[in-house]
Amino acid sequence: MTVLDIIEKKRDKKELEKEEIEFFVNGYTKGEITDYQASALVMAIYINGMTNEETTNLTLSMAHSGEILDLSKLGKTIVDKHSTGGVGDKVSLILLPLVASFGVPVAKMSGRGLGFTGGTVDKLESIPGYKTDIDINKFVQNVENIGISMISQTLNLAPADKKLYSLRDSIACVESIPLIASSIMSKKIASGADKIVLDVTVGSGAFMKDLKSAEKLAKEMIEIGKLAKRETVAVITNMDEPLGRSVGNSLEVKEAIEALRGNILEDVKHVVLALGSYMLKLSGVEEDLEIAKRMLEENLNNGKAYKKFLELVKNQGGDITYIEDIDNLEETKYIEPVYSEKTGYIYNINAKEIGKLACYLGAGRVTKEDKIDKSVGIELLKKVGDKVSKDEVIAYLHINKPEQLEIAKEKIKEIIKIRKEKQEKLKTIIKVIK
Ligand code: URA
Repeated sequence: MTVLDIIEKKRDKKELEKEEIEFFVNGYTKGEITDYQASALVMAIYINGMTNEETTNLTLSMAHSGEILDLSKLGKTIVDKHSTGGVGDKVSLILLPLVASFGVPVAKMSGRGLGFTGGTVDKLESIPGYKTDIDINKFVQNVENIGISMISQTLNLAPADKKLYSLRDSIACVESIPLIASSIMSKKIASGADKIVLDVTVGSGAFMKDLKSAEKLAKEMIEIGKLAKRETVAVITNMDEPLGRSVGNSLEVKEAIEALRGNILEDVKHVVLALGSYMLKLSGVEEDLEIAKRMLEENLNNGKAYKKFLELVKNQGGDITYIEDIDNLEETKYIEPVYSEKTGYIYNINAKEIGKLACYLGAGRVTKEDKIDKSVGIELLKKVGDKVSKDEVIAYLHINKPEQLEIAKEKIKEIIKIRKEKQEKLKTIIKVIK
């Protein structure tokens, strides 16, 4: 068997055997298969899709491309969380310390920004000193000592996904159900999760644009979870407008810190409580979802979640003075207000366009090697359904390059759509699939 046979088969819409998938995953992980050959196969999968059996085989061989972390010595059920990606999605930064504040162990391996969406690792790295690439023993030790660790995929956990993830990002092959499902579930299986709560986003700022595809993705991941004996719950959430107020790494960290101090925006709160209540249920802390939500809200308001976040940051080398005083976090040279040109109601803020604008300002990558600017981004002062008056400030642009000022201002005025008629607020939680 050669990689050419495998590429040819998928190119011609044929089903790949388990051995062929394993041959590709192992060869690519070891560097025996080149990036251009992997790109060809990934593009063929993107275009021609995979059967459920192929996706499961791909997931399992990616999960076994490195070590499988055994966290059984912690003596507790490990419930992990992952999102399929979004714009302004700072949920992990809030939710995970919050859940850990109940003694639920959190061992979280996060990703970097992908396509027009942001990534938790890039956000964490905007806290000076915070190390996301710690070794596997330290990762487990952190969870043992303080109950939480949040890291990047630098360890030998699902290394095939690490390579495929950045490859897909640089060849426009992100929005694919088999590729997303295998990427997420391989990471979760490799990092020792017993149970998994998924945030499956849908809408303009998600990789799944309609409910039908989001449901299909959710069901495939639940099915893979079943086969791998990991109970999985998927919460489908709305990503038609950006989540919360800010988009951009440092800005989102600031918003998350405010949320952990109890000042949390409604839409972010709904997502945090929905996912958190399932995490508390699956870990055996609280069976009743409504009671779990009340408990979570209490720990947001009484400072326990914030305290856990401080512990996490300190334990991973981060300088907590930046958390205690968020004004110390890096700021841009220009903070430009954007004024509404009319009176009316916001009826659309296309999340993908906002994500692309944030990337243009420097918050995201175009190639794997790109360095990002942690400080740039967009603050949206209004949500869909909000009333605005002419000349009111509706957004702030955080910019470092003066030549971007006018272009970005024009672009954001185009994206934030206002009309006379009243507009309903968007529903945040769409449904739960188990
Ligand atoms: N998150 C991941 O980890 N992988 C994807 O493919 C998309 C979102």
